[in-house]
Amino acid sequence: MRHFLTTENWSRTELEALLDDARRLKRTPRSRDLEGRSIALVFFNPSLRTRTSFEIGAADLGAHAVVLEPGRGAWPIAFEPGVVMDGEEEEHVTEVARVLSRYADLIAVRAFPKFRDWSVDREDRVIKAFAAHATVPVINMETITHPCQELALMLAIQERLGAPDKKRFVLTWTYHPKPLNTAVANSALLIATKFGMDVTLLCPTPEYVLDARYLEAGRAAAAASGGSLTVSHDIEASYRGADVVYAKSWGALPYFGRWEEELPIRQQYRHFMVDEAKMALTPNALFSHCLPVRRNVKVTDGVLDSPASMAIDEAENRLHVQKAILLALLAPQP
Ligand code: CP
Repeated sequence: MRHFLTTENWSRTELEALLDDARRLKRTPRSRDLEGRSIALVFFNPSLRTRTSFEIGAADLGAHAVVLEPGRGAWPIAFEPGVVMDGEEEEHVTEVARVLSRYADLIAVRAFPKFRDWSVDREDRVIKAFAAHATVPVINMETITHPCQELALMLAIQERLGAPDKKRFVLTWTYHPKPLNTAVANSALLIATKFGMDVTLLCPTPEYVLDARYLEAGRAAAAASGGSLTVSHDIEASYRGADVVYAKSWGALPYFGRWEEELPIRQQYRHFMVDEAKMALTPNALFSHCLPVRRNVKVTDGVLDSPASMAIDEAENRLHVQKAILLALLAPQP
């Protein structure tokens, strides 16, 4: 049995096969390939795209999806092994994962960090606990990485640019009034390096550099794929020569749990917003964002609504890549 928790343990060849199937599913969306199968979608955090695309994607393949929101219509869940459960939680993930495995053929989980202590959040305990106790495949719908978004992004890049190898990919931090999850940024590094792109991580200061785990994974992937990974704090130098500009905001990891100290620092870098002047430094780069996005805070209307923007294509691709993942995990080809 195989899970889809991170792309790190899926080879480029295996991911290319998922993308090939996603292209097929984009052309031919409906089948009965998962007739009679069921999937449980467990959301600890809000969603528009992920929930809709998984529910409709399952239906397109003849499967049935059940959405559960622990603490809001489903019982709150405890995760720590050996915990004395005399707090708010009514059941333990051990039972939740085992019971859902008896009802459903697959479990998908969204569980963002708690944003209090990165040394805890970086262990990704919620989805690891589901994977440990489930007896069916588990999909990551965003925890500290967002592997489904990775495939949707790469499909959009391939649709616009063809082979991504040696194309220049700039992941730029942008301002947001709240400290956001690093998941999509971590994931963008993982997929772009695995697919041979020359990747620049552009962020305001060293404090905004992503967890060393993802930089090391990105550098290893780049070494294997012929790509590269560099970190820059220079906006102009990063944009020059870019083929793809990918925007995301995140909170600085050293300030986890001390966000009132980070806010005045973050507010100094509102000028990282993607705008027409920065995009004019590039040779007609494509722009994208995972969505949801705050207009004229992270990116101007002009860039987001321009022909260079593939954000809506990337969002649509969530539907196709997730169906490919469901088929790979539930109806693997012999
Ligand atoms: N990009 C993404 O995962 O969107 P949602 O948070 O709306 O699911």
